[in-house]
Amino acid sequence: MSAANPAVVWFLLGREPTLSAAEIISFLRREQISYDNLLLQQPFLSVSANIKAEIINQLGGTIKIAEELGTNLSEQALLTAIQSKLSSAPGKIIFGISLYGENKTDNVERWGKELKKILKAKGRSVRYVFKGEPTLSSVTVEKNSLISKGHEFLVLKTSAGYRLARTNAVQPFENFSSRDYGRPGRDAGSGMLPPKLAMMLINLAEINPEQTLLDPFCGSGTIISEAILLGYKKLFGTDNSDKAVADSQKNIAWLVEQDLSRKDADWKVELLPVQKLGEKFAPKSIFGIATEPYLGRPKQERETVNALEKEAGELAKLYLDAFLEFKKILRPGGRVVFVIPRFTIRSGAPITISDKILPQLQKLGFAVDQMLPEFNKSPFLLYQRPDQLVAREIWRFKLA
Ligand SMILES: C[S@@+](CC[C@H](N)C(=O)[O-])C[C@H]1O[C@@H](n2cnc3c(N)ncnc32)[C@H](O)[C@@H]1O
Repeated sequence: MSAANPAVVWFLLGREPTLSAAEIISFLRREQISYDNLLLQQPFLSVSANIKAEIINQLGGTIKIAEELGTNLSEQALLTAIQSKLSSAPGKIIFGISLYGENKTDNVERWGKELKKILKAKGRSVRYVFKGEPTLSSVTVEKNSLISKGHEFLVLKTSAGYRLARTNAVQPFENFSSRDYGRPGRDAGSGMLPPKLAMMLINLAEINPEQTLLDPFCGSGTIISEAILLGYKKLFGTDNSDKAVADSQKNIAWLVEQDLSRKDADWKVELLPVQKLGEKFAPKSIFGIATEPYLGRPKQERETVNALEKEAGELAKLYLDAFLEFKKILRPGGRVVFVIPRFTIRSGAPITISDKILPQLQKLGFAVDQMLPEFNKSPFLLYQRPDQLVAREIWRFKLA
């Protein structure tokens, strides 16, 4: 990838594609990586830019990163392009194909078999990795060494023909999972933030790693931990629960022990209700806040609308109190990335909290800082697992 002629890079977006895409754009802006030709063709976002594949370690919502090899291809041109790439590879050829945008397992199977036959006829030794599905998971790509010793080709069917790319990196799924399930302090009761989502929230805040970041509802310390991994140097976590503070301290210490290179991060976790932030932190001393606050009682089954409305009112008050304090300690221009829950009910519209507090937040000077305005018209991004009773609205505000 030369500076004069940047490659077209594809990002395979995670389960919440818009959120993943917004994270990538925030990351590029924070790192001051210039990009061009922004294109969202789900499940991919692509840009022309000089990008190292290793940035996948710093993105919570990207599954694969690939480099484009061709566009507007006919089926024949697609196979020729793959064949020419494979022919120039030395030694035994190992390859796989993932087809997106059309659910045609038989295409992938046929293409692979044809290519294998042609290459074998030329005297090459070939292994084709096919799992009976149109796409290969990042686990399969990794376990079959398709990046280090072989090739995975990504094919996207569009109305203008096929687009083709070659995978350069896949999400380090084992690292994410060991951080999620291996950490010593776990508290399922108060709701644990998945490390991938924590990373996305931090990236969305677009705070320079040299600047101070705060999580005022730090729970088990996931946001602080992920921020340390992302290279943030100055971090504060606060929470009003003794157990949360102890868990956070254990988890962050555990993480830093595992990765000696992160020993230079300056982090502190303290017991403090959010209503008292202004007593502890100096005015304008914080550059950014990324937090998942208390989201209400864990919900086991469908509850009455009245009970949910009552809780929504209580949470609205807590969040407003929090923003009153944020206003005191945040620098002008500083950003707040904040999760606001919404409750799904059996019939009818969900119960939302954001609409109850938005006018007051705006009066305080917090403007909605819309994420990915090129493709997204909503003021927030939704993170929701199927059948979850509580969905997360992800909001970003900027203090005037
Ligand atoms: C959903 S958890 C945060 C999850 C956290 N991000 C994690 O990864 O574990 C919410 C946290 O808010 C804390 N909390 C609730 N009310 C609070 C308040 N008034 N001030 C500070 N923390 C509060 C709870 O103790 C809990 O640890």
